[in-house]
Amino acid sequence: MDPRDLLRPSVANVERYRAIEPIEAAAARRGISPDRILRLNANENPYGTPLRVQEALASFDQYHLYPDPESREIRALLAGYTGMDARRIIVGNGSDEIIDLLFWLFVAPGESVMIPTPTFGMYEARAAVFGAAVRAVPRRPDFSLDSDAMEAALTPDVKLVFLASPNNPSGNLCREREIVRLLRRGVIVVVDEAYFEFSGRTVAPLVGEFDNLVVLRTFSKWAGLAGLRVGYGLMPRWMADEARRIKQPYNVNVAAQVAVRAVFDEMAYFRSTIRRIRLERLRMYRALRKLNFLKPLESKANYLLVHVLHGGSAALQDWLEEDGIFVRRYSSPDLADYVRISVGRPEDTDRLMRRLTVLAQRYAREMS
Ligand SMILES: Cc1ncc(COP(=O)(O)O)c(C=O)c1O
Repeated sequence: MDPRDLLRPSVANVERYRAIEPIEAAAARRGISPDRILRLNANENPYGTPLRVQEALASFDQYHLYPDPESREIRALLAGYTGMDARRIIVGNGSDEIIDLLFWLFVAPGESVMIPTPTFGMYEARAAVFGAAVRAVPRRPDFSLDSDAMEAALTPDVKLVFLASPNNPSGNLCREREIVRLLRRGVIVVVDEAYFEFSGRTVAPLVGEFDNLVVLRTFSKWAGLAGLRVGYGLMPRWMADEARRIKQPYNVNVAAQVAVRAVFDEMAYFRSTIRRIRLERLRMYRALRKLNFLKPLESKANYLLVHVLHGGSAALQDWLEEDGIFVRRYSSPDLADYVRISVGRPEDTDRLMRRLTVLAQRYAREMS
């Protein structure tokens, strides 16, 4: 008997999620030195982890104890940060873990989730793992939601709707009235605000109004803690109670809890880096718009989706990687001609633009 036959049918054919390659692996693949790598493919914080957060991690001396299973301190801090009752907050090992918790809570194998595409690939990837069907509803050409199509596709087997706002990779927000329209249909609506700090727009106040709304947030982007894995969900109390019942008891590790405390001690610093990233987003958008083979989309997040009008996205990615600059490209047909570029520091934009300008000149020569 082949033990592979014992695999759960739903996981037997699941494709591996294409996660971000570590710096050393990317450098080895391209035959360049790791210190030349500029990572503009993961929407991480280009300013890194501040020294005070590193010091808090280094001086903590209780790593031999299990973490608080209820993340009480983080939730109390988040209650202050979000204005939300701590009993409505669930903290996870990245917001990715909260996505899994929502599948555990709501979606049985064979049931469905609705995903307006293109969007963050994790929703579809985890649906596959949980044996759920995906009802993909294409966004309009400008990447806004097609609310009529979504409502029409909202049959009773659809348990969750995932709405990233700002959307990854297009950077645009969902309109509140579109979200409310779906909420009124009774389905669980998950508004993923991973990039909230860069947009300043949230539907969190609606969590107190609707019993079927979840808002996801993370420390991976604005707070520079992607490597420590901390995310959270704002949800109705009944749902938070259910999530607490089924989650892994020690899901948020001690280092993550120490780091979050230090982040809240350093809010002035983080506000200033968020401001810098928002300013740089505009500067990068304007610079990219000047290159006639690229068309950047306006974005409310810390990345820009860029339409590659000439030469193709694969050639563009290759050209940048040759110089150590890594951007995100997509395998799905609806994004074949796009790349997503994270907003870095001003010097990162300058380096990116120098390399792109050479390619623009080459294309211009070829066309003349
Ligand atoms: C829309 C969206 N949601 C969630 C995540 C995952 O965040 P975390 O690092 O908290 O798991 C990402 C990360 O890229 C994202 O783009």
